[in-house]
Amino acid sequence: MADYDAIILGAGGAGLLAAATAGQRGARVLLLDHAAKPGKKILISGGGRCNFTNLGTEAACFLSENPHFAKSALRRYTQWDFLALIEAHGIAWHEKTLGQLFCDGSARQVVAMLLEECAKGGVEIRLNTRIGEIDHADGRFRVAGASARRLVVATGGPSIPKMGATGIAYDIARRFGLAVVAPRPALVPLTLGDGDAAFCGIAGVACPSIARVGDVAFAEAALFTHRGLSGPAILQVSSYWSPGTPVVLEVLAEAGTRLRAARRRMPRAHLKAALAEWLPTRLADALATRIGLTRELGNTSDAELDRAAAMLEALTFHPTGTEGYAKAEVTAGGVDTAALSSKTMEAREVPGLHVIGEAVDVTGWLGGYNFQWAWSSGVACGEALAASA
Ligand code: FDA
Repeated sequence: MADYDAIILGAGGAGLLAAATAGQRGARVLLLDHAAKPGKKILISGGGRCNFTNLGTEAACFLSENPHFAKSALRRYTQWDFLALIEAHGIAWHEKTLGQLFCDGSARQVVAMLLEECAKGGVEIRLNTRIGEIDHADGRFRVAGASARRLVVATGGPSIPKMGATGIAYDIARRFGLAVVAPRPALVPLTLGDGDAAFCGIAGVACPSIARVGDVAFAEAALFTHRGLSGPAILQVSSYWSPGTPVVLEVLAEAGTRLRAARRRMPRAHLKAALAEWLPTRLADALATRIGLTRELGNTSDAELDRAAAMLEALTFHPTGTEGYAKAEVTAGGVDTAALSSKTMEAREVPGLHVIGEAVDVTGWLGGYNFQWAWSSGVACGEALAASA
């Protein structure tokens, strides 16, 4: 049986960077994955250009039962550190919007960079490999015909199962007695019921909005779909959504002032025509139907206009659910951070066992934050692996 200092399960962003970090510092590392190629989610991310980090990364941009957990790793390996690596490899990049950094060329460059870094560290990568049973009889970890003093779980979450994503991280965690915060689809489109059929009928229409769930608000585009709501604003709030909670959309700012001005300017017009001045026509139609104000604007009272404005500033939906793991960009929840050291990602009660990346109960906003967590937690763990090798 081949011996290593560390076996890393999962050759995604977190596993690749952890392996490279440990290998370059002298650890003998084996990286295993059941997929035929490494970094599959990196390859499809950001529409093929990989939104690899966000300039605004800070712990407040992550959801977790323990909002402080991510701070240490994010501080030690920052967005600027990853950007420096990108630049050292001559990968051209640009900021798209809201601090989101993308490759000018292709996400393939990011995977190639990580593989080059692994090669520099002498990392052995075994693909098409089933994990199977993990034996831990004498303090060493034995898996897939290899043995090591340290085992890193970097197998992500179950989002997009058709790409080979699984919840094996949770099975391994439970097998070693680590608690798991109930996983759920996040950054995911929401579905609407029959009561909102008018909005499902305008699939493809997008509009700038402020989406709210409870106290959380995101100002980005919302998109109406055949099944319900999507677009960045909705994906963002979906991570905070739970069944029974309404989603509130401000589709028109200062609606009251605008509607009163429209009443003065175009008293013979109907609400739908006024709304179409500021919003896509099909959305204006659906909104006018929902508001139910059928008289000419000149014949509407202040109270009626105020009620219409209130609905435009707080259009309330009651989603019936999410589109599930098949469409979720990430999985929220995961291995409970209470079980892990925030410095090394090592399990407190199981020396030598580490968990990193999306498998952990740390979930970023949309916009490059999830990869930054994969990089930061990967480096924190990789350094610890090398220090103990
Ligand atoms: P990741 O899931 O990347 O890697 C896990 C690895 O473990 C995989 O290689 C998998 O094959 C392997 N594995 C799983 N189960 C296994 C098993 N049973 N046996 C063996 N191996 C197993 N984030 C972001 O910041 N910017 C972006 O642009 C995007 N875009 C994006 C688009 C789409 C369509 C999705 C689905 C996701 C994104 N994300 C994103 C999220 C981002 O991809 C995600 O958070 C990171 O890839 C997580 O990295 P990990 O390394 O933790 O897991």
